[in-house]
Amino acid sequence: MCGIFAYCSFLCERDRKHVCEVLCNALARMEYRGYDSAGIGVDGDSPSDPFILFKEVGKVAALRKHVAGGVPTTPPGAAEITQQVDMSKVFLSQTSMAHTRWATHGVPSVANCHPHVSDPATEFSVVHNGIITNYKELKLVLQKRGYSFRTDTDTECVAILCKYVYDSQPNKRLSFQSLVKTVLKELEGSFAFVFKSVHFPDEIVAARRGSPLLIGVKTERKLKVDFVDVELPSEEGKLAPVPDVGAAGLLAVPGAADGPKLRRQQSRAFLSEDGMPQPIEFFVASDPAAIIEHTKKVLYLEDDDIAHIFEGELHIHRLRRDDGLSSVRAIETLEIELAEIMKGQYDHFMQKEIYEQPESVVNTMRGRVNFDTGSVTLGGLKAYLPVIRRGRRLLFVACGTSYHSCIAVRSVFEELTEIPVAVELASDFLDRRTPVFRDDVTIFVSQSGETADTILALRYCLERGALTLGVVNVVGSTLSRETHSGIHINAGPEIGVASTKAYTSQYIALIMMAVQLSQDSISKSPRRAEIIAGLHAIPSQIKTVLAMDKDIQLLAKDMIQSPSLLLMGRGLQYATCLEGALKIKELAYIHSEGILAGELKHGPLALIDEHIPIIFVMTKDHLYPKTSSALAQITARKGRPVIMASESDTNVPRSAQVIRIPETVDCLQGLLNIIPLQLLSYHLAVQKGYDVDFPRNLAKSVTTE
Ligand code: AGP
Repeated sequence: MCGIFAYCSFLCERDRKHVCEVLCNALARMEYRGYDSAGIGVDGDSPSDPFILFKEVGKVAALRKHVAGGVPTTPPGAAEITQQVDMSKVFLSQTSMAHTRWATHGVPSVANCHPHVSDPATEFSVVHNGIITNYKELKLVLQKRGYSFRTDTDTECVAILCKYVYDSQPNKRLSFQSLVKTVLKELEGSFAFVFKSVHFPDEIVAARRGSPLLIGVKTERKLKVDFVDVELPSEEGKLAPVPDVGAAGLLAVPGAADGPKLRRQQSRAFLSEDGMPQPIEFFVASDPAAIIEHTKKVLYLEDDDIAHIFEGELHIHRLRRDDGLSSVRAIETLEIELAEIMKGQYDHFMQKEIYEQPESVVNTMRGRVNFDTGSVTLGGLKAYLPVIRRGRRLLFVACGTSYHSCIAVRSVFEELTEIPVAVELASDFLDRRTPVFRDDVTIFVSQSGETADTILALRYCLERGALTLGVVNVVGSTLSRETHSGIHINAGPEIGVASTKAYTSQYIALIMMAVQLSQDSISKSPRRAEIIAGLHAIPSQIKTVLAMDKDIQLLAKDMIQSPSLLLMGRGLQYATCLEGALKIKELAYIHSEGILAGELKHGPLALIDEHIPIIFVMTKDHLYPKTSSALAQITARKGRPVIMASESDTNVPRSAQVIRIPETVDCLQGLLNIIPLQLLSYHLAVQKGYDVDFPRNLAKSVTTE
């Protein structure tokens, strides 16, 4: 996953230094989306001058340092640039763009950094999030037509295709958005793009298909209306064939003949009283976190939307008609606050998010759990309850931590709904082409709502007529928009790549779903009451567990040299072991494995000796006797586990190191047991000197398969 950003200011005096700061700050807010390299592009001194690029491998801090030096990156194939640019140059209007990368095609390098350009004169520039799956075919055809490539990326192919389309039109009548539309029609795969060209000064075009893109609007005056019309062409411009480019056949270039130009409406949203152009700024981004410090007024693009920003206006076009879609795009108000995406007094976002959990779990329950009446109301599910209750199967699909939250609640769904439950890893679910039927109820759990495998699984189920529900944190994300309905977990922005508060909020959201589904059963009423009473105490119990942070920090010191770490548990605590193992893997880069204690005798017991570090989860529940037996198997082989036990447990071997956990309802215990493991993985990473918020090789949301 990458982060893209564009900044357009119209009739607002801004110097180049300010523009660069806006771009770099935006990248810093999106760095968790990808951070192996970053780049920005700003206007030259005059509109027809080449785009000025600054690109750097590493994090945004390295890019800022490069920008401060003032000597731009030389575009591939151009004469080396050695002169500093004038950072005090003031623009009355300007368009600029930025990108932070998680490499998919081509290693992290300055050459492979975005923005990518079509040629040394930077006639066309583009930043991209996603993957173009047919770029090799397109590249071959463009190379045959004499276009040179200088990077290993799929994105460069798009920039050069823009130039090819521009060069191919006999009369250069094509508008920027029509040119981009022609290019997009040749592409397969997922994308969010921002395009810029020296041929179309003070204009940008943005487009999305499968990767998120939103546009912030900042203006002194009140917008006339809180939406932007989608402009459909009065009729498609006559397409004149040009030499074959796309694998799909002739690349037709609208406007090449005397086809009618697109009807250019004035966006009603930006009309001023006197009809005179007004100062305005637009911010295009992959993520609201990059926009929130500028404005809360945002518009989410839909798949196949093309946004064209010029002359202080935003126009929305469609790559193809989609009658199911609204003819306007609402200008919404962002709910998040800047403070929510800042670290505050914490050293890392992950630490902040671990400590936010007493509050975030309350936010998840707010307005949904009535502790007086002992009932749950999830508005998004209300209309679907009868259908869900008649479902033949509850099929949970997710990845990573989100998958573990589904495992954690599997048994309570079976108990409360008495419907068969399956929990699937999205990638494997798709690989097997798992049979799905119209009377399946499919639930997609995702913090980002942008995980490619989970989205593909959703579309697979939609095609088969199943009811699809989302349990998602990011409002406006693809999963939350494409499912029939669902729940927002309201955990607040989660910036740290390692998911923590999203896990506990997903867990609680799913528990609430199970309780609500069972509210038609009187016999389940005592169990519901027990769970709801347990939920009420959870926030303060999480605080109690957080208070053992210093002890966990010392435990991390004892484990810091471990080459491997086993976590064992049974039943409801198997999910705790899986999630704890994932945290330790992804933060401390230590091999770690969650093992079902009931499986010990079938192989894992061979690993046990006096050396291997073990964390044994045996908080009290109905499986306690079996868990105790498993512990005996370990200690009989000289195993010396750290034991996670209930506060009231007096059977813990005296010699063992113990992590005491407050007791709650069995199906909620995992909410408390995971906290020490989050803290342990955090301290292991800090003590190893690793980048807690940006672990190597990972990204916050995996938006490519
Ligand atoms: C968890 O710490 C990881 N960041 C990763 O496993 C993550 O949970 C997984 O990629 C799923 O992401 P999602 O919840 O945004 O779909």
